[in-house]
Amino acid sequence: MKLTILGGGGFRVPLVYGALLGDHADGRVTRVVLHDVDAGRLRAIARVLAERAAGVPDAPEVTATTDLEEALRGADFVFSAIRVGGLEGRADDERIALAEGVLGQETVGAGGIAFGLRTVPVAVDIARRVARLAPDAWVINFTNPAGLVTEAMSRHLGDRVIGICDSPVGLGRRVARVLGARPAEAWVDYVGLNHLGWVRGLRIAGRDELPRLLADPVLLGSFEEGRLFGADWLRSLGAIPNEYLHYYYFNREAVHAYREAGRTRGAFLRDQQAGFYAGVADPAVPALELWDRTRAEREATYMAENREAAGAGEREAEDLSGGYENVALALMRAIARDERATLILNVRNRGTLAALDGDAVIEIPCLVDAHGAHPVAVDPLPGHATGLVCAVKAVEREVLDAARSGSRTAAVKAFALHPLVDSVNVARRLVDGYTAVHPGLAYLR
Ligand code: G6P
Ligand code: MN
Repeated sequence: MKLTILGGGGFRVPLVYGALLGDHADGRVTRVVLHDVDAGRLRAIARVLAERAAGVPDAPEVTATTDLEEALRGADFVFSAIRVGGLEGRADDERIALAEGVLGQETVGAGGIAFGLRTVPVAVDIARRVARLAPDAWVINFTNPAGLVTEAMSRHLGDRVIGICDSPVGLGRRVARVLGARPAEAWVDYVGLNHLGWVRGLRIAGRDELPRLLADPVLLGSFEEGRLFGADWLRSLGAIPNEYLHYYYFNREAVHAYREAGRTRGAFLRDQQAGFYAGVADPAVPALELWDRTRAEREATYMAENREAAGAGEREAEDLSGGYENVALALMRAIARDERATLILNVRNRGTLAALDGDAVIEIPCLVDAHGAHPVAVDPLPGHATGLVCAVKAVEREVLDAARSGSRTAAVKAFALHPLVDSVNVARRLVDGYTAVHPGLAYLR
């Protein structure tokens, strides 16, 4: 089984490889091909993987290349985890939005739109090549903004592209934990778009236990989302939102905290990662150890400004690891070995949420087997959530339109229609600001 990882020089690749190292069953991945546009980053990550594989006799063989077509040919699975414009681009996305007083974040609001506008054309090019060179491959998309990018790729790959994210899994795990259930025995009723979804119920042995959680302020104060949103607001909603909804429900505080921060998240990660890649280039430096220290620091500081604005304190130790690599592995196992699994994934709606058309990619529990991921029927979202989902999907559609046609007008419309951008004039200035700094947006005319 050949797995190609696009963005193979990326910092989180050792997590995926670590998950593969724990899989010894028949039908497991035996070959990993790393592809990246940057040979230096590939060398760095290959070193970390080699150290991680030490002592594992059936470790998947790793090769690296900067030739995309060579990487794709004959792949059974393609993981896409690219970052167009790098972390410098992410820092620019944040800075330009925050200077206008609106949210600059990797996937939400103006920053997410800028990132999407840069990424979609590249993702579409990849999808076309996969369709030509590896037509039977399954594409697992981690590339953010994951829902939007998955939808862009699905126009060329249909249901063979599946988007993943660890935030709903982490949320479901935390809610199950505080209710005293094992995550594996809980059915999490979650739906929305990527980074814009809600847990509306959690069934254990057929019984919905969420009302018990919502009624108990002590339980609500004992996990990340409870502290982030506060017991009163969660009770008002009657649901537990994905942590990224903090940017919507507490937008003013989040923007304020991000503007006050010494460095934005993107700028922090840009500097942190530069140190890591420079360090690993020195053969005397133990690569795996440096990687792990860097990873721990990244995990501990995740959404720090939001937690500070909410007075939510530090992250729990059990939230600091074990995320998307397990979703990725579970998804591959289910498809490759027809091991049925239920996973929250980004797939085409096909009538599940009546407010959206069938091709809209949504985030929803799916039954996965050798034929792919099949969304399960869920209750409709309440009005306010449907409103947000439809508004953000409309923005995504403008981004897809701008990327296809090169229309600057569509790009302005994408920003202007976003619920977190408060003026058409701001939207116009954002497009001016972003096109001035991002070479990847030169296509907008
Ligand atoms: C969460 C999100 C991902 C995001 C990751 C890392 O897991 O679901 O989409 O890539 O956090 O965030 P960071 O700010 O560390 O890059
Ligand atoms: Mn995510």
